[in-house]
Amino acid sequence: MDQNHVEGDLELDQTLYTEEQITTRLQELARQIEADYEGKDLLLVGVLKGAVMVMADLARSLERHVEMDWMAVSSYGSGTQSSGVVRILKDLDTDLNGRHVLIVEDIIDTGLTLSWLITNLRSRGPASVEIATLLRKPDALQMDVEVRYVGFDIPNAFVVGYGLDFNERYRNLRCIGTLSPHVYL
Ligand code: XMP
Ligand code: MG
Repeated sequence: MDQNHVEGDLELDQTLYTEEQITTRLQELARQIEADYEGKDLLLVGVLKGAVMVMADLARSLERHVEMDWMAVSSYGSGTQSSGVVRILKDLDTDLNGRHVLIVEDIIDTGLTLSWLITNLRSRGPASVEIATLLRKPDALQMDVEVRYVGFDIPNAFVVGYGLDFNERYRNLRCIGTLSPHVYL
C-alpha cells in the first residue's frame, strides 16, 4: 500500500517530508549525536505517544549502545493549545542521577510542554539534559528552550503522520504531511 496517497481516510493535502527525507535527516542527527556523546553513556527519553516513530528510527540509526525510556505527559489546556501545565501520566523507570539524558520529541510547537519537562528532568540530578526533535514550529523559537538537535523547521500548519495524530489517527503514516481540509472541516 502506498501510504503517502491512499484511500479517503488516509488522504493528505500535501506531503511535507517523505519517508526517505525523514530517514536521511535522522541519519545526519545520529552522526552528530554519536560525536557529541562519544565515551559517555546515553539515555534516550521518548515522549509518548508522538515520539514513538522518531525514537525507533533515531535509536536504530545510532551505531552505539543507548538505553531508552518513556514518559507520557498530558498538557492541560483548551483544544489544541497547550497551556504549560503538565501532568505526568507515565513516569520514567530510570533513575536519572548522573545520567546523560536526550529527550526525543516528535514536534515542538509552543515549547511549553518541553520547558516544563526539562525543568522536571533537571531536578532529578542528571549529568546533562538535551533535546532532539524531528520537527519544530516557528512559535517554539520564542520560548527560551535550547534544542540541540532539530530535524526540520516547519511552517505553522497542523501536520500528521510519522507518530503525529489528528484525533489519534494518521500516526502510522510513513511520511509527514498536512491534512486535506475536508478531513477536519
Ligand atoms: P507545545 O507545548 O510545544 O506542544 O505547544 C507540543 C505538542 O503539541 C502537539 N502538536 C501537534 N500534534 N500535529 C500534531 O499532530 C501538529 O502539527 C502539532 N503541533 C503541536 C504534539 O502533541 C506535541 O507534542
Ligand atoms: Mg508529542
